[in-house]
Amino acid sequence: MKPDLAVDLCGISMANPVVTVSGTCGNGRELARFYDLGVLGAFTVKSIRLEKHPGNPLPRIAESTSGVLNSIGIPSEGVRHFIEYDLPFLRQYRVPVIASIAATRAEDYARIASILDGEQGISAIEVNVSCPNLETGGCAFGSDPEVTGQIIRGVKESTRFPVIAKLTPNVTDIALIARSVEKAGADAVSLINTLAAMSIDIETRRPKLGNVTGGLSGPAIKPVAVRMVWEVYKAVRIPIIGFGGISTWEDGVEFILAGATAIGVGTALFRDPWVVFKIIGGIARYMEDRGIGRLDEIRGKIILPQSRDACLP
Ligand SMILES: Cc1cc2nc3c(=O)[nH]c(=O)nc-3n(C[C@H](O)[C@H](O)[C@H](O)COP(=O)(O)O)c2cc1C
Repeated sequence: MKPDLAVDLCGISMANPVVTVSGTCGNGRELARFYDLGVLGAFTVKSIRLEKHPGNPLPRIAESTSGVLNSIGIPSEGVRHFIEYDLPFLRQYRVPVIASIAATRAEDYARIASILDGEQGISAIEVNVSCPNLETGGCAFGSDPEVTGQIIRGVKESTRFPVIAKLTPNVTDIALIARSVEKAGADAVSLINTLAAMSIDIETRRPKLGNVTGGLSGPAIKPVAVRMVWEVYKAVRIPIIGFGGISTWEDGVEFILAGATAIGVGTALFRDPWVVFKIIGGIARYMEDRGIGRLDEIRGKIILPQSRDACLP
């Protein structure tokens, strides 16, 4: 029997669990040069700001061992431009579109969500709370459970679409933040965003990123992401989109075993845009070989050691 890869993520019907993550494949045109976006479980757009914003100073990307540092700074043409220019393009494809939104003032999240609310062709709003809160000195909104909860509540009140809270890993207790967004009404969570990082050129003694610090993504962060997905899975009942360093189908299965309903692919697309086919095909074969009919049968089903002491680091 052929396995069924379809998943339902807070009411979004996905043909398979593979989602492209925000900021790693623009707003569709870049990836659509390679294949029909309809092969994906869902497509997430680059975070949309309320107004046009230039992003951070160059250089914005630096390579690192098994990963990439970036300090793109979310350049955006603004939400109106997204509606006029990008959304009509994405509507051509039979793929659920997740609209990621970002802001540096808390109230702007709800404003962007309410502007998007009248539009066709959006399946969910993803709230990127990893941005610096410029009104309180630049600390990320997402590191404060109370502030994150308020933002999610505001967005929920401003939209009919399901709301996905995208969590930052740069916190001590990610389960605490996940519980707070669930309480505020989030329909799902997605994680992880990039890990705060820095790299220095030893010849010039200058930071490799124009913004000095940035975020690390790619295979280097995968074990951190798997741990966080597992912690969030135990803490909340809403579904999880898990990502951070996924580049093979085996990585994808690991995230599903840790509790993810859908899995995201980002940095791996830079090297191989077709990697999504290998991930979808590999998961299907894994299921078929083991007689697994649906992904619910393995979601969160890791076998834990008997002794609790064995769980200590
Ligand atoms: C170049 C680049 C740009 C990104 N832009 C965004 C963005 O606009 N919004 C967002 O929420 N996350 C953004 N991210 C973070 C990714 O969506 C994702 O959370 C992170 O890269 C971890 O997944 P990966 O290791 O599969 O890339 C960006 C990541 C990269 C590498």
